[in-house]
Amino acid sequence: MSRIVFDGVSHSFGERRVLADVDLVLSERRIGIIGANGSGKSTLARMINGLVAPDTGRVTVDDADVARKAKEIRRKVGFIFTNPDNQIVMPTVQEDVAFSLRRRGLAPAEIALRTAAALERFGLAAHAEHPAHRLSGGQKQLLALAAVLVGEPQIIVADEPTTLLDARNAREIAGLFREMTQQVIVVTHQLELLEDFDRVIVIDEGRVVADDAPSVALDAYRGLLA
Ligand SMILES: Nc1ncnc2c1ncn2[C@@H]1O[C@H](COP(=O)(O)OP(=O)(O)OP(=O)(O)O)[C@@H](O)[C@H]1O
Ligand SMILES: [Mg+2]
Repeated sequence: MSRIVFDGVSHSFGERRVLADVDLVLSERRIGIIGANGSGKSTLARMINGLVAPDTGRVTVDDADVARKAKEIRRKVGFIFTNPDNQIVMPTVQEDVAFSLRRRGLAPAEIALRTAAALERFGLAAHAEHPAHRLSGGQKQLLALAAVLVGEPQIIVADEPTTLLDARNAREIAGLFREMTQQVIVVTHQLELLEDFDRVIVIDEGRVVADDAPSVALDAYRGLLA
């Protein structure tokens, strides 16, 4: 597993302090991040691949400073957005998945094979030639997952990846996170998704207020909400 370190990380948007003195070492395979709306989860998640840079402190992935090694980090850390429209870059479903592979200079035949396999795996094969923007919300989310996972990043950071999915697809994604060998960091409000994770971190008003095994951390969070 990689070692992701938050060292004294704080961040403000204008006057509003969104993260305050966050120190974390993330090296478990499956880590969940939970907290109320606006608590700073997405901001924290985005720092892992450099989408947001901390005002103070440092985020490193395997000792590489995320702010300085953007290119290396983006290859290593795949990011799945809450809103899949943010990451659809190509006109058709198939082209969108193939795009992540094309950048890596693979042979066209290899790209076609891997793309077809990814579409099949995410139940999108029948939509291969369709315009990506016409997919349903849940299908777009599956496309976003397919497009990131096909590139085989070492770390996957997913910000509410199952929010738009129906129960069956949400279960499929939960199963995928369970089976895959990569490290996954998942921000979610769907607490049951995290029950068998290795570690769950609770954020409240920009601070880590619990960091424990899922049963303990989920209880702490439920207490906070009550
Ligand atoms: N680009 C931005 N510009 C200004 N303020 C922002 C920006 N992004 C986030 N914020 C503010 O930072 C705070 C934390 O936002 P963040 O998106 O990290 O919360 P979150 O924990 O992911 O919430 P949710 O569960 O609703 O997704 C919020 O008050 C939000 O309004
Ligand atoms: Mg968020």
